[in-house]
Amino acid sequence: MSDRPAVLELFPDGTRLADDGGLVVGGCRLTDVAGEFGTPTFCVDEAALRRQARRFADGLESRRPGSHVAFASKSFPCTAVYRLMAEEGLAIDVAGAGELVMALAAGVDPATIVLHGNAKTDDELRRAVVAGVGTIVVDGFDDIRRLDAMLTRRQNVLLRVIPGVDARTQAAISTGHLGSKFGLSLADAGAAVERLRATEHLNLLGLHLHVGSQILQTGPFTEAIEAVAGLGTFAVYDVGGGLGVRYTYDEHPPTVEEYLDALTDAARSHLPDDAQLWIEPGRSLVAQSTVTLYRVVTVKAGTPVFVAVDGGIADNFEASTYMGQRFEATLVERVGGGSPVELVGRQCESGDLFASDVPLRDARPGDLLAVPMTGAYSHTLANNYNGALRPPVVFCSEGTARAVVRRDTYDDLLARDL
Ligand SMILES: Cc1ncc(COP(=O)(O)O)c(C=O)c1O
Repeated sequence: MSDRPAVLELFPDGTRLADDGGLVVGGCRLTDVAGEFGTPTFCVDEAALRRQARRFADGLESRRPGSHVAFASKSFPCTAVYRLMAEEGLAIDVAGAGELVMALAAGVDPATIVLHGNAKTDDELRRAVVAGVGTIVVDGFDDIRRLDAMLTRRQNVLLRVIPGVDARTQAAISTGHLGSKFGLSLADAGAAVERLRATEHLNLLGLHLHVGSQILQTGPFTEAIEAVAGLGTFAVYDVGGGLGVRYTYDEHPPTVEEYLDALTDAARSHLPDDAQLWIEPGRSLVAQSTVTLYRVVTVKAGTPVFVAVDGGIADNFEASTYMGQRFEATLVERVGGGSPVELVGRQCESGDLFASDVPLRDARPGDLLAVPMTGAYSHTLANNYNGALRPPVVFCSEGTARAVVRRDTYDDLLARDL
């Protein structure tokens, strides 16, 4: 049996312990990264991120040639990540003008961009048209009317539909159930398809759906494919993202390969043979690439023992009790083992909690702490709660660490005041 600490299973693959027991990610000692960039810091194993992108792209291509993978950029929106995904051959999914601006700034080919959103403004639609965005997902009749009216050329579109399946995940991140605010019900979809086909400028490629996020079984995905199959024959079926990841030891999501097998089997059973299958992974593409580094600020002995770090809700909103996602953690220089503590942040809420009963080995003020599986939605949801300075994003690759996003400064906190 291996004596490798179990927590390392949640770190980017390739993470190792140095001879003195310290954690090494992307070939960089995390103590050195913290020394150079401070804490909190989002530390990305660049090679692991690239491998995961290729795993999705090659995995889908080998199972259903001609299909494609789009990076759901809401999960980690910074230009370095957009660029990396484009370099690995992925299309890019943007929700709104802000993500579009970042994708274009990263040099992404607009033809590979898919724009969606349930409340796209005229300005956003116009920006997408002017930029030459390849595919726009229409969310309802209003989008059809407004988009057709502003176009002077043909525009490829998908129609977002609600498959009416239970994603078996948290309510806040379920989107494919009846009554969802995203897309049109199956009952309304037929009329929308007719309307689209009657427009002057909209070229309907096919259907789009997304059932939810952090989904830990394949059933909801395959049920969704089956549910929309009856709507007619289309060239493209974009089934969104949603594959879950292993934040904690007792979560066992399908592997990327199991997920792709399930999707492509369902497509073979229910969709036209020559239809393209598009997917939009976010969380499962980026979560495991990243470790957030914190400094332990204070330890309060008692029952329970509170270990408080120099971050919290401001840099990991999903861990807060609002979202309720548990995260595991370890000290960087004493990895694994130890006795359970209440691992908390420094923002002014009791809900500012990474997790209860996190085993840490004799945590002391000044220790460095690493929280794995923080690549998805952490940078996205980072905020200035209590005047927190949002962390930098640091790419670690072959022993070299480079910041691709800098830390906020106190001047940044004042920069928008008039
Ligand atoms: C339309 C759409 N596609 C893809 C995603 C990415 O989902 P995930 O990060 O769970 O893979 C989302 C997430 O909300 C979404 O709304």
